[in-house]
Amino acid sequence: MTMQFTDRVERVEPSATLAISNLASKLEADGVDVVDLSVGEPDFPTPENVVEAGKAALDAGHTGYTPSNGVPELKEAIVGKLEADGLDYTTDEVIVTPGGKQALYETFQTLVDDGDEVVLLDPAWVSYEAMAKLAGGSLSRIDLSESAFQLEPVLDELAATVSDDTELLVINSPSNPSGAVFTDAALEGVRDLAVDHDVTVISDEIYDTVTYGVEQTSLGALDGMGDRTVTINGFSKAYSMTGWRLGYLAAPESLIEQAGKLHSHSVSCAANFVQRAGIEALENTEESVAEMRNAFESRRDMLVELFAEHGIDVPVPDGAFYMMLPVDGDDQAWCEGAIEEAHVATVPGSAFGTPGYARLSYAASEERLREGVERLADAGYI
Ligand SMILES: Cc1ncc(COP(=O)(O)O)c(C=O)c1O
Repeated sequence: MTMQFTDRVERVEPSATLAISNLASKLEADGVDVVDLSVGEPDFPTPENVVEAGKAALDAGHTGYTPSNGVPELKEAIVGKLEADGLDYTTDEVIVTPGGKQALYETFQTLVDDGDEVVLLDPAWVSYEAMAKLAGGSLSRIDLSESAFQLEPVLDELAATVSDDTELLVINSPSNPSGAVFTDAALEGVRDLAVDHDVTVISDEIYDTVTYGVEQTSLGALDGMGDRTVTINGFSKAYSMTGWRLGYLAAPESLIEQAGKLHSHSVSCAANFVQRAGIEALENTEESVAEMRNAFESRRDMLVELFAEHGIDVPVPDGAFYMMLPVDGDDQAWCEGAIEEAHVATVPGSAFGTPGYARLSYAASEERLREGVERLADAGYI
């Protein structure tokens, strides 16, 4: 039998990062030592107290379903965290999800209908495009690569794109893949456009604990944004909990009611004991979070310096743990060559809508990062 698949799934491509990780796995299976700078997860263990809280929750029998939108104690802790960021949400305005990705997926499915315009800022994290397309949205994109990945200098372009027909705008600061942290003036510009054109904005703040010497502002805290912002966050990056799958969305109750239907009919709830560990992560990890941030900052500084020694100016990221390395020629070919010849795995910028760059993750030890740069230099890639 020939199965017929939906237009919905056929209109999205598999993750472009997959080609690189497949190549990396193949080489590693052949015994090659690959410096993997393609990964989007912190290289630290989950803080011990969080692991213990998860184990204790299992021992205490927290193994059943929870209320679909999350256990009340976790939702309270989330509301407390958001309040500290200047955001005014109640526990009825939160859905706890298995990962930030699910929170985003539910938001796109709840807001975007066939043909609705979704505006992305390039480079944009790969899954926004796929999620918009799965929901039937049509994409408009603003290129930030000419402005060192900052939004403020291209607000005019954004203003020329966003209109009364725009359904959704996606902001991700600190950004994956550029590491840019948008200025308050940029976010205020977004606010003005969103209010003028009655647009809903997703503010994906999953890297909010990883900033270097700058403050990240929560979009939803700006005047006029409270009732039109969907704040997305998660535990993967801040607390090195990628495999636990825990995230959330916070939004006006009307959206929660609609998205909650999707949530309850799909995932039911996030894992019970994981949610309990999430409370510990939000309440008692200040030190671990600071240690990880400090390590990322030293690595960023080291990489910027190493590339400068090779005559390459990388736009210096103020947050997250990625940077965009300008590369010559076709970036897909550059990344494939870099992994095959230099055994260094990176992700092509075109996967994020910005050709001409390779995204490097510095979620790797200083030693491995140094090794990676040396290999790229020795093989003539930089
Ligand atoms: C910008 C951004 N948002 C959301 C996510 C989702 O992360 P998770 O589903 O692990 O919470 C990621 C993960 O790479 C990301 O980079």
